[in-house]
Amino acid sequence: MSHSTPIKRAVAVAAAAVTALALGVPAAQATPPEPTLRSEAPRDLEIGSAVWGQRDLLDHDRKNPTEFQRILGAEFGSVTPENDMKWAEIHPEPDVYDFSGADAVIAFAKANRQEVRGHTLLWHSQNPDWVTEASNTWTCDEARDVLEDHVRTVVGRYAGEIYEWDVANEIFQDEWDAGGVRLRTEANPFLKACSADPVGLIGDVFRWAHEADPEALLFLNDYNAEGINAKTDAYYELAQELLADGAPLQGFGAQAHLSLQYGFDDSMRANFERFAALGLKVAVTEADVRMPLGDDGEPTTEQIALQADRYDRLLQACLDVAACTSFTVWGFDDGRSWVPGVFPEGYATIMTEGFEKKPAYFALLDGLTDATPGTSPRTPPGLNR
Ligand code: XIL
Repeated sequence: MSHSTPIKRAVAVAAAAVTALALGVPAAQATPPEPTLRSEAPRDLEIGSAVWGQRDLLDHDRKNPTEFQRILGAEFGSVTPENDMKWAEIHPEPDVYDFSGADAVIAFAKANRQEVRGHTLLWHSQNPDWVTEASNTWTCDEARDVLEDHVRTVVGRYAGEIYEWDVANEIFQDEWDAGGVRLRTEANPFLKACSADPVGLIGDVFRWAHEADPEALLFLNDYNAEGINAKTDAYYELAQELLADGAPLQGFGAQAHLSLQYGFDDSMRANFERFAALGLKVAVTEADVRMPLGDDGEPTTEQIALQADRYDRLLQACLDVAACTSFTVWGFDDGRSWVPGVFPEGYATIMTEGFEKKPAYFALLDGLTDATPGTSPRTPPGLNR
């Protein structure tokens, strides 16, 4: 049973009554504001969405936001730049940084009193051509210099504005990849150049990021990382190794790109708990639930219900573990979702293209409304509040 619901409601009603009184309207006529994901979230959990600043925020005008921007500001307490902080966008040439998209995300977050999750610093994908080409000839020292300069520049620029950073993204292969679960020392240009000691390099990336922004919580992040499996076993070992080396690793993120084609792994809570037991924070960082659609492009009633249930289970795993700091959806509307461009599936987010709220949205809203406030101290210190 919830302790927070009556309190949240009472605060909302009281606030509405005060406003009404100030306006000279009888308090009885005051209606509380519509609940949002953000307003219902327990105080120690951020509810976030990815947003592509370059595409959707460059035209942001505080006084006249687009419908998309209005919902993004109203529903979410946190935003993740979907592409704007990736190497290819932010560092397109060796001596050229382009901060325009990332700056737009930070400015939007400030205007809406939101937190920002940084994403990402070390990844095998969305690297600029100059990195991919250079990696064929780099010595490890050369690769380290390039990476160190990048990490200090990007993390330093936004120091104090980012509460969590996905420092290393998708650094392990999957069980089904050639060679099985192991560090991506071929696909990742930096791990490739330093394949003699990839863990040493990973630890240093965390050190550089921590020096550049000591307040940000630094995460490992991956897909197929929800439950206990061969990949998360490898992460669990890596986390222990990094911590034993004194690297400032502080969190483990499960992306949670799910599909109704596959089952839901009920070991998610246990997986989060084992990382929490190492002293790490955990987070759901990129949630969406896609599905194969019929010829008409529409989901069935059953699929819609199953999707809501998946979102609910993801949220519950996070709510059940006190160390879970944030729950982020990878975009909130189907019109902007990355899914149809990459998979023969769709309907993955919590709102339709026309911003109609799906049962999945209400599953999250109800889950948050029923949640008891966590007992862990609020992390991070709420930089933008
Ligand atoms: C995706 C973006 O959503 C797309 O716009 C882009 O074209 C490709 O990358 N895992 C991640 C994210 O960590 O950065 C990816 O984002 C989705 C998978």
